Amino acid sequence: MSIKTTGDNMDIEAQKRAAGEAAIEFVEDKGVIGVGTGSTVKYFIDALAKIRHRIDGAVSSSEQSSQLLRAHGIQVLDLNAVGTLAVYVDGADECDPARRLIKGGGGALTREKIIAAVSKKFVCIVDAHKCVGVLGKFPLPVEVIPMARSHVAREIERRGGTPVWRADYVTDNGNWILDVHGLHIADPVALESEWNQITGVVTVGLFAHRPADVVLVGDGRRF
Ligand code: A5P
Repeated sequence: MSIKTTGDNMDIEAQKRAAGEAAIEFVEDKGVIGVGTGSTVKYFIDALAKIRHRIDGAVSSSEQSSQLLRAHGIQVLDLNAVGTLAVYVDGADECDPARRLIKGGGGALTREKIIAAVSKKFVCIVDAHKCVGVLGKFPLPVEVIPMARSHVAREIERRGGTPVWRADYVTDNGNWILDVHGLHIADPVALESEWNQITGVVTVGLFAHRPADVVLVGDGRRF
């Protein structure tokens, strides 16, 4: 049985597909496109394959997406060889009305943040249930250097969060992830700044300093 969203009759999978396909309009001819990670991005990659002759290649945020891109005949390029990007398309786990995001449910948060930082336009593709008033119901992923895991966990507990070590998971960068429950992120910019300063933290999966530039929701909304 498919899961229905409130407010419309499209199921979540159909919304992911709709959002992924809608992002194609932002792809620039003869450009290199930044490509994120996840089940929504998979639909974008499928759609991108149909116009692959129009682009020079892609920079990818994960080994998983790189494999998919190559399987579709799209060249995957090293970001260092490309420099900056015009457009980056990626999903999110939560999105607030100011287009600030929680990302990293798929574990690719650090590479995603790097690609977002070098991209002129960040197009975020989500289904409607990812849109929230205040970020924090989805556990906030934090990538940590393995030897700092318990130190970072204690620091997060001191700040009111409940960190859970993502079991049996190693990031593409060889690090670990703490998923932080119990948050109500009233000031995402401040939290991103402060937690990024905890020694041993590689990246906090909060995209507030560099939010998305446009959000395409699978039910047809955009903001
Ligand atoms: C990957 O690390 C994440 O940031 C994804 O972009 C995010 O988890 C959204 O994934 P889905 O499209 O699979 O929900």
